[in-house]
Amino acid sequence: MKTKSLPAKGINRREFIQSTARATAALSLWSAAPYVARGRVLGANDTIGVGYIGVGGRGSSHIATVRRLIEGGEKAKVVAVCDVYRYRLNEAAKPTGAKAYMKHKELLADPNVDAVCIATPDRLHVPQALDAIRAGKDVYCEKPMGHWSQFDLSRKFYEETIKLKRVVQIGNQGNSSPAWHKVRELVQQGAVGRVQLVTLGFYRRGDWGERMPIPDPQAKPGPDLDWEAFLGDAPKVPFTVNRFFSWRKYLDYAGGPCTDLFPHVFTPFVSAIGLKFPSRVVASGGIFKYTTYDREVPDTFNMCLDYPEKLSIVLPCSLANDYPPEAAIRGDEGTLTLQNPGEWNAGFDSITIVPPKGESRVYPAGKMDPTPKHWQNFLSCVRSREKPVSDVEFGLHVTAALNMAMLSLLKEKVAKFDFAKTKIVI
Ligand SMILES: NC(=O)c1ccc[n+]([C@@H]2O[C@H](COP(=O)([O-])OP(=O)(O)OC[C@H]3O[C@@H](n4cnc5c(N)ncnc54)[C@H](O)[C@@H]3O)[C@@H](O)[C@H]2O)c1
Repeated sequence: MKTKSLPAKGINRREFIQSTARATAALSLWSAAPYVARGRVLGANDTIGVGYIGVGGRGSSHIATVRRLIEGGEKAKVVAVCDVYRYRLNEAAKPTGAKAYMKHKELLADPNVDAVCIATPDRLHVPQALDAIRAGKDVYCEKPMGHWSQFDLSRKFYEETIKLKRVVQIGNQGNSSPAWHKVRELVQQGAVGRVQLVTLGFYRRGDWGERMPIPDPQAKPGPDLDWEAFLGDAPKVPFTVNRFFSWRKYLDYAGGPCTDLFPHVFTPFVSAIGLKFPSRVVASGGIFKYTTYDREVPDTFNMCLDYPEKLSIVLPCSLANDYPPEAAIRGDEGTLTLQNPGEWNAGFDSITIVPPKGESRVYPAGKMDPTPKHWQNFLSCVRSREKPVSDVEFGLHVTAALNMAMLSLLKEKVAKFDFAKTKIVI
């Protein structure tokens, strides 16, 4: 890895102010654009029609979440489902009575659909989300916002969301976790002074890359499986059941821990500290564990990010084992640590502030799956036209960092961010 090209010094104060001013100007579209519904205008008592694009593992779980919210009084209805694999499509349509579509554009043309949930493989998120906002729908888009090769398209999605005044929630559900709200509150109250270094880790025994099941080894493209639609804008390669069902192993559709797992751990820190685009990112790693099968995505991934606020984040990840990580947010007036995290976005047991001298302070936190709260936030914003907690602008900041890290690893170079053009330079 060519880390020699990293400048020895950080940027100076004038450069920092200029670069953040440019970034703010580029992104101030957001605050200048109040949300006004261009699709159906929904009143407080109207039922929101929800359509699902991609009803595999996560899509089905989102259907179950929204159905539970409906049982609890939420005014929404599962009106349509779409999948390119007919077996899953039928399984999702049966219990819900939703209209079934094999093509996402046909679901988007359905006037009963007000909002869509996109839970397809990563490479399809942004193209389908763009189609959805252009069709006048609001969008709950699963993480990662875009595939690692699609930063310019992700920026287009951000720009058009503002222009078309759509409500977009990115599926970084950690942003709806009360434990993370407490971290944000403490950091922003200055509990550790000015944050300069964040160190954390993500450790698991294995990942979904190697575990994704192949339910039908005889499956073939045809009327019950649309391979062309699965590929989207990915290279046109012949069908294999591995690529179709175990797509997380392949770089054309996924990125491994950086884009699949880091949205859960890195994202809540970005949100808690209030960061935007990093100025430079370098990554290392490779396939160090799963060396015996056709996995293309790394299983070991370490990334270092510098932000213009003169702050670094260091995040190693290994799938060798799940020995617990430690996390620390260090400022010049103290260190914030998190105790006993489970799945990161679900929270942790407590937060400790360790000052340079004197007693530590401990704040209770707690773990819960924040996905239902994330949906409630989205649905309430669909009505109010307010900005959701994990909106498209936040999604773009996170996706920039993760895309830069992937490109750094694959190209063996330092990735830099051009704040004036909102572009990755590598
Ligand atoms: N936020 C979270 O905690 C979380 C958890 C799991 C997965 N996810 C995200 O959800 C997404 C889906 O993951 P998964 O585990 O459900 O994968 P999956 O393979 O189980 O489901 C994906 C589904 O999309 C379908 N599909 C493929 N191409 C399509 C197209 N063009 N149109 C419509 N449907 C299409 C597939 O047939 C499949 O049923 C991923 O991007 C993943 O990162 C997020």
